[in-house]
Amino acid sequence: MTSQPTSTLISPPPAEASPAATAEAPDLRGNHPGAEWWRTAVIYQIYPRSFADASGDGIGDLPGVTAHLDDLRSLGVDAVWLSPFYRSPQHDAGYDVADYRDIDPLFGTLDDFDTMLAAAHARGIRVIVDLVPNHSSDQHVWFQEALAAEPGSPARARYLFRDGRGPAGDEPPNNWESVFGGPAWTRTTNPDGTPGQWYLHLFDTTQPDFDWANPEVQDEFRGILRFWLDRGVDGFRVDVAHGLVKTDGLPDHVPAASTAEPAADSMGGGDDDVPYWGQDGVHEIYRDWHRVLAEYDGDRALCAEAWLPTVDRTAEWVRSDEMHQAFNFPYLMTEWDAPAIREVISESLRAFPAVGAPATWVLSNHDVVRHASRLALTAENPQGHGIGPSSPGQPIPEVGLRRARAATTVMLALPGSAYVYQGEELGLPEVIELPGEVRQDPTWFRTDGERYGRDGCRVPIPWTADGAAYGFNTTGASWLPQPAEWAALARDAQEGDPDSTLWLYRQLLATRRAEGLGAGELTWLDGYGDDVIAFRNGNVTVIANASDAAVPLPAGTVLVSSGPLQASGRAGALPVDTAVWMLSD
Ligand code: NOJ
Repeated sequence: MTSQPTSTLISPPPAEASPAATAEAPDLRGNHPGAEWWRTAVIYQIYPRSFADASGDGIGDLPGVTAHLDDLRSLGVDAVWLSPFYRSPQHDAGYDVADYRDIDPLFGTLDDFDTMLAAAHARGIRVIVDLVPNHSSDQHVWFQEALAAEPGSPARARYLFRDGRGPAGDEPPNNWESVFGGPAWTRTTNPDGTPGQWYLHLFDTTQPDFDWANPEVQDEFRGILRFWLDRGVDGFRVDVAHGLVKTDGLPDHVPAASTAEPAADSMGGGDDDVPYWGQDGVHEIYRDWHRVLAEYDGDRALCAEAWLPTVDRTAEWVRSDEMHQAFNFPYLMTEWDAPAIREVISESLRAFPAVGAPATWVLSNHDVVRHASRLALTAENPQGHGIGPSSPGQPIPEVGLRRARAATTVMLALPGSAYVYQGEELGLPEVIELPGEVRQDPTWFRTDGERYGRDGCRVPIPWTADGAAYGFNTTGASWLPQPAEWAALARDAQEGDPDSTLWLYRQLLATRRAEGLGAGELTWLDGYGDDVIAFRNGNVTVIANASDAAVPLPAGTVLVSSGPLQASGRAGALPVDTAVWMLSD
């Protein structure tokens, strides 16, 4: 069968993104008063340590972000979300915050932040920062005070210190496990060298959990929100937004018989009642924060990182007086399977609007196997704990990339807001071959290498095929090694290639904007077969083939295609693992 496009209308990538279409003119920062930009925005996740490194020390930084804002503008995104850049000993890549009101010297200074924010706003790009309220670093001044203080003191009451069980108190206070593996409790040592109380850490030992029942903790975070809102940020992505409140008395976790995987290491995605995930009391915190944000102009927004088993549960985080968005992890976790994808889309478009919120869509982030590899994993190796050289069921790169391009073509046609993770616009796969000695994810260490963890999706991204560290910096240093194959995936190598993934993303984003798809409505189309995803959104018909044979295309103009089409009959055929956007005749 030949492989040539039929009636394909390929337009060049836009030189510049145009402002989002809204009734009212934007202000100087690109804000559209009253438009609630977050309902339809495409938000690009910057993982600062791996985006661009202006200082040349091998770790990306804020000046690096500023230097590439024009590239994000030409890509056509509406906003960026930056993973943490706060002062931190970096035991969990910055999700262990020692000072919530300062920038870590690795990433720059507060002045660098202000420069980056102003430069983004001048280009009409909004900026969301990451807020990490479940835990601090063990180097946070509060935790250091707590360690030096007596059991029962106000300093200890900001965290969750408890006596151990057993006659000598040498067993942890309960059976909770860390998401990264091992127990969720660490015992302290008293000043005289004797063993002391234990403290809770749902993640690494270096990430003690706050006690959110303590009004001092609540006040402190109101102050942190205001600190960044006053600087002008457009919102917050809220880390572990389902974990802040724990069941009173911290009872043992009794897994439900139906839970195949222990809830601890699944970040809360199981279906049993876990005493630290999704407790009712957590919503009061977000109602409070909602009121804080509402005092500010410019539609500031909160987005929940809450790993919950269903979209209905997730929608509880975006009721009208709580957060504005929640990541749609049930969508991310769905395999390349048309009935399953249709179901999660339908559920999402029912559940989120039912509480007045937009549906959101996401396929990759810094915690999961990149979707250009994940969508080709087999049942032998389900997603979840990272993949490495000895994982069974290795993905076939060509299949993964084809499916990733098709899946993104579906995602960016959906009504609501979408998140794109840095590097997916280049079609980057997971880096599987990282040797153990370079891995840095605490998951790798806490499980003695049993779980590879997340380093494979965090490798610094390639900008130029010939540059040092592929243009990540000018020195060639890189905190994780970049694979040799990435020269071909570098942004400049894709610039001149209309078939590249970069061009695909630009076409999708420009067309999504021009056709107003984010604010549109989805209607399912019948007649394409169970293994094909087909729907209309406004003028655009979307057809994605997840079956194992080509399917005939209807007559019409192809606006964007995720891969080559086949000549067949009048209108052509859509190959396996390919998706198109068409204007219907
Ligand atoms: C979720 C973040 O996305 C992840 O990277 C981090 O390790 C945990 N929360 C703990 O903060």
